[in-house]
Amino acid sequence: MQLVHTIEDLRAALRPFNAPVFVPTMGNLHDGHLALVRTGKPLGDVTVSSIFVNRLQFAPHEDFDTYPRTLQADCARLEQSGCDVVFAPPEKELYPEPQGFKLHPPAELADILEGHFRPGFFIGVSTVVMKLFQCVFSEAKGPRHALFGKKDYQQQLVIRRMVQQFALPVTIVAGETLRAPDGLALSSRNGYLSETERAEAVQLSLALRALARDALAAAGSLPEKREALEAQAMRALALRGWQPDYLTVRRRSDLQPPSAPDALAPQSMVVLGAARLGNTRLIDNFEI
Ligand code: PAF
Repeated sequence: MQLVHTIEDLRAALRPFNAPVFVPTMGNLHDGHLALVRTGKPLGDVTVSSIFVNRLQFAPHEDFDTYPRTLQADCARLEQSGCDVVFAPPEKELYPEPQGFKLHPPAELADILEGHFRPGFFIGVSTVVMKLFQCVFSEAKGPRHALFGKKDYQQQLVIRRMVQQFALPVTIVAGETLRAPDGLALSSRNGYLSETERAEAVQLSLALRALARDALAAAGSLPEKREALEAQAMRALALRGWQPDYLTVRRRSDLQPPSAPDALAPQSMVVLGAARLGNTRLIDNFEI
């Protein structure tokens, strides 16, 4: 496996290949990232992962400075998983000057849910992903694939929309969320949890499962009942000491509230949630 730090070296490393498969990450990798690498491997002739903590997607009060930087351990795990090239640029390489040119995803998709609670987050994500795509795919002559985890459900939809609206020659592949044995979705931020918080953390997924059951039981009357069911789910978590941002039932395709026909159609909805436990903000979702 080759580790490169500059765009020039990345392009040189990829030049002999036709069909790159790309797994962008911010490092501090868990099994979910490695599963994306393994899923992607057969889709092309070279597997590339980036490790870059992207300042643009963090608000000033968020954890940019403390986000764990674990390059050596990440590289060892990527190599074991079949990754061929790791691109780990220093900040000055990707942003040699302040990135004034930014991508603004459509508000109806990106200013809701995560985008509402983390204003500017999807501007930062779209901008860096577009830039990373330029770095990784510029030399490719064959199919180009990029993999994103479904754990970041809205991110994956925003990137799909970006690819579609800019006619980028990239196929987006979504990887299933990996879970710990108790059901907690794997996340780089789980490492922030204390032992007591870690034992409690699974409650977010349990609250979402309960909301999913209630939503499915409501069937065609979901539009009238949805807000009350969501409020009930948020109250249940709040009573356990969480600070929920949202627990909600949405349409899979565009994350808008489901209509009665959506609620009756099989596999058309997703429940999504974000909540703070102590100082750690966790997100999760289930397709239903
Ligand atoms: O999901 C992440 O780790 C990041 O948002 C991404 C896609 C690597 C962009 O910085």
